[in-house]
Amino acid sequence: MILTPEQSSLLNGGRGPAARKAMQILAALGKIYGAERMLPVSSVQVSGVSYDNLGDAGLEFLAELADGGGKACVLTTLNPAGMDIEAWQSLGIDSGFAQRQQQVLEAFSRMGILATCTCTPYLVGNLPHFGEHIAWSESSAVCFANSVIGARTNREGGPSALAAALTGFTPAYGYHLDQNRIPNLTVNVASPLNGSDEFGLLGIVIGNALEKRGSKLVPYIVGIPSASLEELKSFCASLATYGGAALFHMQGITPEASFYQPPSDSILVTQQAIEAAAKSVNSASSSPFSTENHSLASPSIDFVTLGCPHLSIREVARIAELLRGQQVKREFWITTARPTKQLADRLGYSAVIESAGARLAADTCCVVAPISRRFSSIATDSAKACYYAFAKNGWSTHLVPFDQAVREALK
Ligand code: F3S
Repeated sequence: MILTPEQSSLLNGGRGPAARKAMQILAALGKIYGAERMLPVSSVQVSGVSYDNLGDAGLEFLAELADGGGKACVLTTLNPAGMDIEAWQSLGIDSGFAQRQQQVLEAFSRMGILATCTCTPYLVGNLPHFGEHIAWSESSAVCFANSVIGARTNREGGPSALAAALTGFTPAYGYHLDQNRIPNLTVNVASPLNGSDEFGLLGIVIGNALEKRGSKLVPYIVGIPSASLEELKSFCASLATYGGAALFHMQGITPEASFYQPPSDSILVTQQAIEAAAKSVNSASSSPFSTENHSLASPSIDFVTLGCPHLSIREVARIAELLRGQQVKREFWITTARPTKQLADRLGYSAVIESAGARLAADTCCVVAPISRRFSSIATDSAKACYYAFAKNGWSTHLVPFDQAVREALK
């Protein structure tokens, strides 16, 4: 790989041991993927923030980089942590965990990284523009940034994103290059879709189809007349989870779709396929906790959550509207970014939600918080949350429309 004098100096330790280590990570990655050069990036999103995932080894790695003088040289934001930084006690997080999580966040802060703790950085100020090269490592946000915004990023891991933050560079391969953004599979959607849950189901169907074909495909989706920001957010999370996809084009909706014609290789998504996906999510609950009948009235649901990915202010407003004057009967977490929560506080939504007994939690989510032993059955509108609820925690899963999730909490 050809390095500029600045990049060579970083590799030789000219800006300290942390930047050297970061450059070594990037150079090794570039070599593996055959990159010819490095590209400057202007925005980074770092995942791997929860102490539940990092453990002591991860915390040590971060502390070592911070001690080694590591400093972010571009706008860098963080994925959700394992707890609400301010209200962790009310979420039942133990103090030992809270202390370790704080140490993780301190290490990031010492490196000049903004502890935004959200998977929707594009809703709270880390919003790249079309064509901008970035290095993001939250799979749902990567898919959103590449596809909906038209920025350019690979699906980075936590360490490689952090390395990009500390150097301002990423190797030029994958989705940074024009030729890898060309669609090669048309997906004809012949099913009406409505709401975040159904867009999540579409992500399951397409994701499974991509997985079956076994190669890195860029789908070109046709047949969807419109999609809201929230529906796209849900779709991106699901497609990335079930199909490992980091880029799609959607005719009439995403910015690069107009650059291409639909590829000749195609698949069809029928209404039956969407219904089968819905059934499969609910029968993913063929775990020990599952009942034969997946009736939503089942008392087995002990946890309701909305906010995977983190909610927009419009979604928080809708929840407040549905909860006004009522009391929830089940544990109900509503997860969002801190700035969105602050806006909700100011607009009076938080007060309505909290007086209904639900928890409006910032900085965290149902997947990265250490709560696997506390619940056994989840209701949510998020296909991604269902995947991890089952795969990581062994919970039974109920994928429901957004409004219905609120109603489940009230039952
Ligand atoms: Fe975000 Fe947690 Fe879902 S990081 S996408 S809310 S699993």
